[in-house]
Amino acid sequence: MRSRRWSWLAWIVWVTACSCSGSRGETSAKSQPSPQPIDWEAELRLPAAEDLASDPHVFETQLTASVVSLEILQGLPTEVYAYNGSVPGPEIRVAKGNRVVVHFTNDLPEPTTIHWHGVRVPNDVDGVPGVSQPEVQPGETYTYDFIAPDAGTFWYHPHVRSAEQVGAGLYGSFIVTDPNEPSDLGDELSLVLSDIALEEDGQLDTSLLGGATELLFGREGNVLLVNGKVDPKLIALGGRRQRWRVINAARTRYYQLAIAGHDFLRFGGDGGMIEEPVRQDTIVLAPSERAEVIFTPSAAPGATLPVRWVPYDRGFGSTIRDEVEVMRIELADQAPFVDAPLPPLRRTIEPIDVASAREVLLELTQNNLEDGTFALGINGIPSWEAPPLHADLGETQVWTFKNTIDFAHPMHLHGFFFQVLSMDGVPPAVREWKDTVDVHVDGETKIAVHFDERPGMWMLHCHILDHAESGMMTMVHVGDGDPGAGAPKH
Ligand code: C2O
Ligand code: CU
Repeated sequence: MRSRRWSWLAWIVWVTACSCSGSRGETSAKSQPSPQPIDWEAELRLPAAEDLASDPHVFETQLTASVVSLEILQGLPTEVYAYNGSVPGPEIRVAKGNRVVVHFTNDLPEPTTIHWHGVRVPNDVDGVPGVSQPEVQPGETYTYDFIAPDAGTFWYHPHVRSAEQVGAGLYGSFIVTDPNEPSDLGDELSLVLSDIALEEDGQLDTSLLGGATELLFGREGNVLLVNGKVDPKLIALGGRRQRWRVINAARTRYYQLAIAGHDFLRFGGDGGMIEEPVRQDTIVLAPSERAEVIFTPSAAPGATLPVRWVPYDRGFGSTIRDEVEVMRIELADQAPFVDAPLPPLRRTIEPIDVASAREVLLELTQNNLEDGTFALGINGIPSWEAPPLHADLGETQVWTFKNTIDFAHPMHLHGFFFQVLSMDGVPPAVREWKDTVDVHVDGETKIAVHFDERPGMWMLHCHILDHAESGMMTMVHVGDGDPGAGAPKH
């Protein structure tokens, strides 16, 4: 009995270890080899963070942020900021419950930190300068050490001058696998979406052309990237399921992805699996949101399916642009694969009990200043003047985000997942755990959040990073004391 149990454990360990290295065709936690053509995802392959720990329950790695020159546009070098020399940075892939130790070195010419977006870490590893840690100065090192408690698709990025540093290339995927998740959902791919602002000579455009107006719109890059590549190609077997983990790592751009004649089965979101899968014609992700989808290409062998970025209405002027092909899927010259039926993908998610929740109104606001510039804020108060919101440990709150300006805002809460109760009065189709939710133009988004553990100061901000830096950011103090503080009054 004991030896059987041990061999089962050893198998889990083997699968976990194998998922950290190996070629992507074999990465998901399954025993069947992938039927995809060899190197089918070579152009999309992300470097894998190396596990330096011998303990199978510990993932220990080394990340260095530095300035490097990459060829993003053919034949033109671009100086970017990168983790371990690549954009995106290496993918960190661990099993749920593992301890993660990241030895970080800052070789940038400016201070930085790393924030583990969506991961429910203790407050002191949350990566917020001046709140959970000091800034990591040029030449300094810092060690992040935490447990990855939830399975799902997450990411990491800096929390110092985030708009500039994320825009310059600092972002990477952070995948937490669950050995109990149904296996054989398909061949797994991480798709890290972003954009970068490049001049004609290939150099990073760091100017702020339109000044205040441009900040208000949010700076979008003119070059769209999937896993750091312009229009990469996937060579895929028709009929064979693919499991995509899609991350919007752009500082401002919303993504709406479409493939003619195809739909997507979305079964996961920000915080792992959702209650039940939903069929969607497109994948829509506001900045920092994630989706896990099943996609099955069906077209004649040899045909090419363009994956298109389709304009999404996030406010004034955001839809007056052309579609962009962000990647393409070339069908292998082979008879279509006949896949096994998809295993059931359901997860029980209890609704947060809001019966005695404290109600908090959070208006997303813009103050025009006398000098022609503006400050964004929450309840009229920009981040640099805002007193923290407050929640007692164990308290449940219902927040109503009310948008009063002409652009949508993807609002992100650090440290805690929440449930969306309604968007513009309409409850969501399925229950799911989220850390970022969009608030439409003229819209109202209601969420429930339970501050169950991990006291401390947690950030709440718009993930259009230009908006966050323009004032749409505050903190939530979670813990005892200060019971009267509540939401800032206006
Ligand atoms: Cu991904 Cu405070 O952010
Ligand atoms: Cu915003």
